[in-house]
Amino acid sequence: MSIIADDNDFKSISEKKKNSVVKAETIELDKNFENCIRPKSFDTYIGQSALKETLQISIEAAKKRKLPLDHLLFYGPPGLGKTTLAGVIAEQMGVEIKITSAPALERPRDIIGILMSLKGGEILFIDEIHRLNKVAEEILYPAMEDFFLDMTTGKSQTVKTLRVPLPKFTLIGATTKAGELSGPLRDRFGIIHRLEFYTENELAQVIKRTAGILNIEITEEGAHAIARRSRGTPRIANRLVKRVSDYALVKHDGKITEDVANKSLDILKIDEYGLDNTDRSLLKLIIEKYNGGPVGIETIAAAIGEDVRTIEDVCEPFLLQAGLLQRTPRGRKVSPAAYKHLKYKDLYYNEQQNLF
Ligand code: ADE
Repeated sequence: MSIIADDNDFKSISEKKKNSVVKAETIELDKNFENCIRPKSFDTYIGQSALKETLQISIEAAKKRKLPLDHLLFYGPPGLGKTTLAGVIAEQMGVEIKITSAPALERPRDIIGILMSLKGGEILFIDEIHRLNKVAEEILYPAMEDFFLDMTTGKSQTVKTLRVPLPKFTLIGATTKAGELSGPLRDRFGIIHRLEFYTENELAQVIKRTAGILNIEITEEGAHAIARRSRGTPRIANRLVKRVSDYALVKHDGKITEDVANKSLDILKIDEYGLDNTDRSLLKLIIEKYNGGPVGIETIAAAIGEDVRTIEDVCEPFLLQAGLLQRTPRGRKVSPAAYKHLKYKDLYYNEQQNLF
């Protein structure tokens, strides 16, 4: 997914996916919706409790010292609230936040422009920071470390380096792929945190909060029914609330009960694990055509008609976490749980000794 963003307006380009109902990618239509339900404070931000606690301490300490917060790196699967958390931090620090994404910082002047526009104490949020190019990274190093921009003027023999001071700022980087971040960039973050998948209870709370904001009537059981199929991801849970609410309004009296939620999610072909058609085709392909694996990611992508990045960033994190898929040096393998879930009873029972 590519996002171009200026100060506070996200616009998505290209690679908008067919299955956006349950995929955690950001698409333009959802931006307003996401912004309106985004929690603005730690009190209303549900989940990630250990992370919230350490962040609150870091914020208090920074405020006491009257210094900006250390640069922060958030990593973890998409849709778990990295941008939201950055917004909460800005609110708590009482500073402005400028939001952008690495693909929007293609030319040196993009990153220089945004750095020079920062005011003292402000937060710069860079999404997908693992996609930053080398030149942009080199510009960022002195900016993060010493709050300077190293500019060069002139050509070859007459080249001069100019150190332009910047106001002290906090960089918050977010990535779904911490492993792809270069060592020097990672080392410049003072605080590094991983965001975890949400529990069913946490998601049910997110769902009830969102339903409240959108004036949707929902029962406790209805919230849990949606939560169970939300792949541990608030962004997915919030999208499903809207889809289920449409169904409740058209087919029932508008109220989301457990039965209404289950029927609606069945129609959307989201199963009890929260898997959609793409996830199921991926697992089925490995089972039926590759005897359970291992098989390379490129082969899988070509066979199911998805791109490698979508599979790696969007499908796989949850399949791995749910124990349905395994990553091995020789490729992807499905686990016995996947055979069971997809009801390959005979294969599972007859061949498990050979397969696993
Ligand atoms: N909406 C999306 N993420 C949320 C969270 N962590 N808490 C509350 N509402 C949310």
